[in-house]
Amino acid sequence: MSTLSPVVQIHLGKPLPPEAFLDRVYDELHRAEKELNPGRLAGLLLEGKLTWEQLKQYAIHMWWLINEIQKTHGYIYQNCPIEAARKELIKNIIVEEGPPGPTHPELYVEYCEKAFGVSRQELESTRPLATTVAARNHFLWVALTKSWLEGIAAVIIGGEKGGDKSRDNPLYTMSNALHDRYGIPWDALRFFTVHVELEQGEKAEEHGEIGPHLLMQYATTADIQEKVLAAVWDGVIVHKVFFDGVYHHLLGH
Ligand SMILES: [Fe+2]
Ligand SMILES: [Fe+2]
Repeated sequence: MSTLSPVVQIHLGKPLPPEAFLDRVYDELHRAEKELNPGRLAGLLLEGKLTWEQLKQYAIHMWWLINEIQKTHGYIYQNCPIEAARKELIKNIIVEEGPPGPTHPELYVEYCEKAFGVSRQELESTRPLATTVAARNHFLWVALTKSWLEGIAAVIIGGEKGGDKSRDNPLYTMSNALHDRYGIPWDALRFFTVHVELEQGEKAEEHGEIGPHLLMQYATTADIQEKVLAAVWDGVIVHKVFFDGVYHHLLGH
C-alpha cells in the first residue's frame, strides 16, 4: 500500500465521552503537527533568519489563505441544521467580521500596509501559489460539502487552533518574532494580537472555544467522532501544503 496515502482513518469502536473526545481532538492536532512538521518556514521566521523580502513575500502569500475566511465560516454556519448551534456559530462569524471595527482580513491588510507598505490593491494583484489555492480550496470544500462538525474540525481546530490552551498560539510566537527580531511595531500586528486573545486568551469563550464546545456537545457518535478526527488531520495536512509551497517558492529547495 502506498505510504503517501493522505487519508487518515481513526477507528474508535464506541463513542468517547465529551471531555475525553475533546482531549482526543487536541491530541490528534498535536500528533498531526508533530508528524507533518508544517513549521519549517515558521521556524526560520521565529529565528529571525528570513530576509526582509522573504518576510514580505510570506506575508503576501498568507493573504490568499485568510482573505475569504468569512466564506468558510459562512458555509459551516449554513450547513448546521441545529438552531441552538447556529446561534453560537453566528457569534464566531460576527467576530471575524469585526463590527464596529475592522474585519479580520482588513486587520491583515493593515499588517501588510504598516509593515511592508503593501496595499490591499497590491495584495489582490498578486497571484497565489497553486499550493495555497489547494489549501484554501480544501477548507472551503470541507465547509461547503461535509458536515458542519467536520467543518469546525478542519477550519477552527486544524486551521485556527481554536481553544487550544495547552500551548502558546502559533500567532503569539509569530507576532513576538515579528516585533523582536524584525522590528515591526505592535500597532502593525493587531491581526496577530487580536487572534491570540480570541483563539485561546481572554476572549476565547466568545470565539475560539465556540467550535470545540459544539464538537463536545454534538459530535457524539463514533462515526462522526472518527470523521471529526480525520478532518483535524486534513486541516493540518493542507496547512503543510500551504507552508511547504511558500517555503519552496521562497527558498527554492
Ligand atoms: Fe477565528
Ligand atoms: Fe479571525
